[in-house]
Amino acid sequence: MSGTLYGLGVGPGDPELMTLKAARILSSVSVVAYPAPDSGESFARAIAAEHIDKNAEEISILVPMRPDKFPHEIYAEAAQRIAKRLHQGQDVAVLCEGDPFFYGSFMYLYDLLIEEFPCVVIPGVSSLTACAAVAGRPLAGRNSLLSVIPGPLDSETISAQLNTCEAAAIMKVGRHFKRLYKLVEDEGLLERAVYVERATLSEQRVLPLADVPQDRAPYFSMILIDKGSRPNGPKSVVT
Ligand SMILES: C[S@@+](CC[C@H](N)C(=O)[O-])C[C@H]1O[C@@H](n2cnc3c(N)ncnc32)[C@H](O)[C@@H]1O
Repeated sequence: MSGTLYGLGVGPGDPELMTLKAARILSSVSVVAYPAPDSGESFARAIAAEHIDKNAEEISILVPMRPDKFPHEIYAEAAQRIAKRLHQGQDVAVLCEGDPFFYGSFMYLYDLLIEEFPCVVIPGVSSLTACAAVAGRPLAGRNSLLSVIPGPLDSETISAQLNTCEAAAIMKVGRHFKRLYKLVEDEGLLERAVYVERATLSEQRVLPLADVPQDRAPYFSMILIDKGSRPNGPKSVVT
């Protein structure tokens, strides 16, 4: 009988935000896989480290940071390595920062393996809700429309979304920071925007977007916008 593939959401950074279920499953599997940058350690592994069995085999999926180019071959190769363990009857946990199905790279492995193996996804605390929490800004209430906008999208699409939504979260800010800042400003929303960097980690930064001095942002950053349609409007920004 084949093993089970688990997609484990490990949360946005603070290890205490990993679910009990993800921790239990992680400590029980014999194979653990995770994405890792070409230099430095895997963020997902660092979050979940204390729950990894010391005898577990680890599969590090090296994903080089290549803007605008998705590394299909890398995930195809990783899927083959994982499939081999699953065929041998071993359970494999893939660690996913935040939630696996919310802009998570786990979904590519899932698509490649779901036909052949049992797959179980354990949801995680996403960066979206974590950023709202640390900024002290409710995301959406009553019937308001929340738009989640990937920063790499073209400017026209982003402006249209900013124009029609009641609240927005711009993700994957990184090297797009300067352009995104200008788009928010052009929509007259600068005063209603907050910038959150590395939410829930000790290096976390939360400040009004208008006060962010730099031209670039780190990969783990987000811009939250509330047009004030909730009864109490946006709260003042936590600094
Ligand atoms: C590929 S998406 C992964 C999202 C993840 N699966 C989730 O559920 O949050 C990566 C983006 O999530 C956001 N992000 C993830 N963790 C974050 C954190 N701790 N603080 C701020 N933004 C974060 C950033 O916008 C980053 O560019």
